[in-house]
Amino acid sequence: MKIIDGKAIAAEHREGTAKRVAEFVSKYGRTPKLTVIKVGNDPASAVYVRNKKIACEAAGMLSDVIEMPEETAESTLLSKIAELNGDASVDGILVQLPLPRHISERAVIKAISPSKDVDCFHPQNAGLLFNLDEATFLPCTPAGVMELLRHEGIDVCGKNAVVVGRSNIVGKPMALLLLAENATVTVCHSRTKNLAEYTRNADILVLAVGKAKFVTADMVKDGAVIIDVGMNRDENGKLCGDADFADIGDKASYMTPVPGGVGPMTITMLLANTISAAFAAEERKIGK
Ligand code: GUN
Repeated sequence: MKIIDGKAIAAEHREGTAKRVAEFVSKYGRTPKLTVIKVGNDPASAVYVRNKKIACEAAGMLSDVIEMPEETAESTLLSKIAELNGDASVDGILVQLPLPRHISERAVIKAISPSKDVDCFHPQNAGLLFNLDEATFLPCTPAGVMELLRHEGIDVCGKNAVVVGRSNIVGKPMALLLLAENATVTVCHSRTKNLAEYTRNADILVLAVGKAKFVTADMVKDGAVIIDVGMNRDENGKLCGDADFADIGDKASYMTPVPGGVGPMTITMLLANTISAAFAAEERKIGK
């Protein structure tokens, strides 16, 4: 089994992004900027937001983090988003999820200008995933998975790809990206009966379940490629994925580790979307 080194592949990809940033700065005389809004005190979100800021700055971009208290009214958040939509120095806006329960995630996602929606969550950008050649942005985690597969030379055309999880952030857009590359895609979820019958048929198995070590060797086809989007804590508090990595071992042909697999690619794709947003903004200005 080959372990897919997401950290190394991400580092390679980010070099390309840093070059695009340098080209942008010399062409337009300003530095692209991502603004991240975090509402409340979710400890995991704090780590994710800090990592996004560090990665942006490492690629030569600016990154602002706006921290708002847990009790922030939805209307206050929406006003802040409206202000950022109108601020020409801001290229990308990302509101870290989850939000406190009194705020509607859908309302917030829809409030972000589609041209600054580097998460690719706005319905207009999500809809463009039906016609990828028209899309400005790709959803970060699914796009990161596709980059990992491409990097390893894994052709998905005609293969059985099984996605476990149907979230708007990972499962649904993942299915669309795999379909665009001509995989035969099955989406399974918490109500799927006889899940193992599906997973055992997968040449490519993408796991976005959120349950530690949920997928074991008996649920996996010999030689399968396993892409693990899960980020869980095991019984000892150690980070682990949805797949039982040690149990599956050489039954898989390729597998992503947790941490160090898909995670670093998600941020990498966010950086790529931010520089794409910046170029698109400048090109709109000159009417290209
Ligand atoms: N929370 C967990 N993953 C994500 C993500 O990709 N984007 C945002 N905005 N919030 C998240």
